[in-house]
Amino acid sequence: MSWVSIDKDKCNNCGICALRCPLCFVKQSDIIIAQADESCCNLCGHCVALCPTDAIVHHKLDMNNFVEVGKGTMFETDQLIRFIRERRSHRHFKDKEVPREHLEKLIDVCRYAPTGGNVQDVEIVVVQNPEKRQKLSDLTVDFFMDMGKYAEEALAESAATGKEPPEDIEYLEILAHYRSRLGRARAAGYDAIFYKAPVVLIFHSHSKTRTPKDNCVIASTTLGLTARTVGLETTYIGLFEIASKMYQPIDEELGLPPGHEVFSVLVMGYSKLKFLKTVDRKPVKTRWE
Ligand SMILES: Cc1cc2nc3c(=O)[nH]c(=O)nc-3n(C[C@H](O)[C@H](O)[C@H](O)COP(=O)(O)O)c2cc1C
Ligand code: SF4
Ligand code: SF4
Repeated sequence: MSWVSIDKDKCNNCGICALRCPLCFVKQSDIIIAQADESCCNLCGHCVALCPTDAIVHHKLDMNNFVEVGKGTMFETDQLIRFIRERRSHRHFKDKEVPREHLEKLIDVCRYAPTGGNVQDVEIVVVQNPEKRQKLSDLTVDFFMDMGKYAEEALAESAATGKEPPEDIEYLEILAHYRSRLGRARAAGYDAIFYKAPVVLIFHSHSKTRTPKDNCVIASTTLGLTARTVGLETTYIGLFEIASKMYQPIDEELGLPPGHEVFSVLVMGYSKLKFLKTVDRKPVKTRWE
């Protein structure tokens, strides 16, 4: 049974569905036949969205969620570029709760962020509980303190013995740097991981799926930019992502489904600080061919 049906009374045989998806639609005696199943269909929905006569029903998709595009939504280019340039990483948040309805809307927008092969398997852990956030933050600092200590010892040994520096010396130096920085922040009672943000969003997916990192980063970026439209600001938190991959206690505390890994993390809230200017960045090195 095909996952897709064509209403013969509505179909004008234009062939657009077969052009877009030649494995799931074939022309037989000048008539388009649908033969969509798991061998060819990744549930992209393009056939339904392209059909000019509303002739296609996809039985695996919610047909009510196909919304008329009409003329399409468009932004003025420079205005959108300004919006992107005005995004900053925010690390000082008001002690103000984020309404659930905003969170739900922002999570929902991630449905529409693309995924490799349309796997749609990005999941999100939303941490609002301050004790849970603190626990995860503390474990992350513990990880960097341990790793940093190991790195400092390896660097010291290599300096004292005159041996070749370890191959991963640059990484060790970064870890040692974090140990010192995070140690000082901890002593001062400062949350240098999640900045006591009212919301932490942990994007995860199965690591053996297609493009898991890209999928999670595209979702988090989509959410982060959309969040700005309701006055919420974010920062990516790579430190937690690194620690989560290498530190068993974080794994246990997070309790992700088997095979899942963290691939992107955001803190989010209402910022205490307002950036009054955009910032300078290096031009992108480009090779034109
Ligand atoms: C993948 C990624 C990981 C990051 N991890 C952290 C982090 O762990 N902690 C933090 O305070 N900032 C983190 N940042 C924020 C960067 O430091 C910040 O984006 C950069 O300094 C540029 O500032 P801007 O975002 O305001 O343009 C991260 C940014 C990215 C893109
Ligand atoms: S796109 Fe629609 S109208 Fe055109 S051939 Fe396919 S089902 Fe028929
Ligand atoms: S949903 Fe996508 S893959 Fe499936 S039949 Fe339609 S166009 Fe082809």
